[in-house]
Amino acid sequence: MGAADDLLARVNEHGAIPRHVAIIMDGNGRWARERMLPRPIGHRHGMKSVREVVEASIAAGVGVLSLFAFSQENWQRPAGEVSALMSLLEEYIQKEARELDEQGVRVVFLGDLDRLPPVQRGAVDRVMALTAHNTKLVLNLFISYGARAELVRAARLIAEDVAAGRLTPAQVDEDAVSNRLFTAGCPDPDLLIRTSGEMRISNFLLWQLAYTELVISPVLWPDFGRAELYEAILDYQSRERRFGRVSA
Ligand code: IPE
Ligand code: IPE
Ligand code: MG
Repeated sequence: MGAADDLLARVNEHGAIPRHVAIIMDGNGRWARERMLPRPIGHRHGMKSVREVVEASIAAGVGVLSLFAFSQENWQRPAGEVSALMSLLEEYIQKEARELDEQGVRVVFLGDLDRLPPVQRGAVDRVMALTAHNTKLVLNLFISYGARAELVRAARLIAEDVAAGRLTPAQVDEDAVSNRLFTAGCPDPDLLIRTSGEMRISNFLLWQLAYTELVISPVLWPDFGRAELYEAILDYQSRERRFGRVSA
């Protein structure tokens, strides 16, 4: 039994598997720089971590895995890096779509997908349609995503419903907002992991993370795999979630 199997056994002993795990996949650039390699090579190695974490999530019985892959702010990176990331997105879908489908993964892309180049947009739409019937794991891939923009969009949708008489101002409650986010119908994350030691949210899921447990891993994303995921879940299992109440 390898170290990761050992950790999975401990995770299962503890019992409480997070239903929804979210990850800010960070540190690809530093991983490459440490090796004097161009940044896109770090992103390429990060794809292997995505594969491992998906498989590890299925093995542990996680229901939803949300990965922050490309933020709205990341469009402002140098054009060469943006186009390398777009190529990797297409390559990931080409390579993985069939296996993801066979594993029972429903792939969902969330964000301002209209900004994607046509080739990537087509690939994204195809893999979502291909896997829409799957139920083993929901894989939420956040691309061209910003949480503030998501909230502004929800506010606009509410305003349109109110203006059209479909909703009264008094009916605007937390569900009215939640139901208009990209994550509508999805439980809030139980656990958020950020890799590479950075201690910030960087405009990810500002609404949905209200009571999420945070784990900051020092490991750079290309080095993050099964064992690191299970270590983060063990850390999560040691927390007491009070949701503002007092302990029993
Ligand atoms: C995360 O790695 C991947 C994306 C944000 C697309 P970075 O590219 O942010 O790597 P660092 O933070 O510069 O090391
Ligand atoms: C957050 O990482 C976005 C993704 C992981 C996709 P960044 O590297 O873009 O965030 P900052 O700039 O360090 O806050
Ligand atoms: Mg970064």
